[in-house]
Amino acid sequence: MRIYCTENYEAMSRKAAAVMAAQIIAKPDCILGLATGSTPVGLYQNLIAANKAGDLDFSRVTTVNLDEYAGLDGTHDQSYRYFMNTNLFDHVNIDKSRTNVPGGKTADPEAECARYEALLQKLGPADIQLLGMGRNGHIGFNEPADTFTVPTHVVELTQSTIEANARFFASADEVPRKALTMGVGAIMRARKVLVVVSGADKAQAVKDAFAGPIDPHVPASILQVHPDVVLVGDKAALAGLIEAGVPVCG
Ligand code: F6R
Repeated sequence: MRIYCTENYEAMSRKAAAVMAAQIIAKPDCILGLATGSTPVGLYQNLIAANKAGDLDFSRVTTVNLDEYAGLDGTHDQSYRYFMNTNLFDHVNIDKSRTNVPGGKTADPEAECARYEALLQKLGPADIQLLGMGRNGHIGFNEPADTFTVPTHVVELTQSTIEANARFFASADEVPRKALTMGVGAIMRARKVLVVVSGADKAQAVKDAFAGPIDPHVPASILQVHPDVVLVGDKAALAGLIEAGVPVCG
């Protein structure tokens, strides 16, 4: 595992975008596993800038997103499909038919999870999987639990996740209570995992995940056994890891 510590969010976004861009340049028809949330927004802006400058070609790229809120249609402005369109896909030369996000608006979320898992199996492992991390150590919407869940599944969001995500909705009451998420299986099958973290409110989760025991109550801790993880974080988010004596690169 390589850990890069940056001064601030902007530097984190540039460094992480460089890792992602290197993957696209090395393999133009790669499969990118993508994430939503506030942390990757700057990374996506850097990728858009590189695309507009003519340095990065998305025309052969396929994407698979981690998760989606249950009940939200892709046109809902808090759906993760809408997030991906507005934060990346609408601004680069990607073929949208190659972009995949679980369908949130469905009468049968379990069937949608089965469909998405079959799609992931058919496409094969992501060349790189981007992950943010929840304050409770979640990855995708794999929330703290007694066991790790391997396939794509429906999850009940924890109160802490509902409260953390309420900032994007009019109120906490409007945050969907369920989501569809890739399980740890597809995440761990990815050839490379890129984790981005920013801000002091992630420091404890980052320390627990990477300097503590592997424990499904800290879902990101499973990444300790992935053979190729790059963690890019600003110094506020990495403070706990650094205190614990884990070596980081500048
Ligand atoms: C998003 C996702 C989540 C977020 C996490 C951190 O697709 O799967 O695991 O990465 O909740 O969110 P932010 O970046 O908003 O702190």
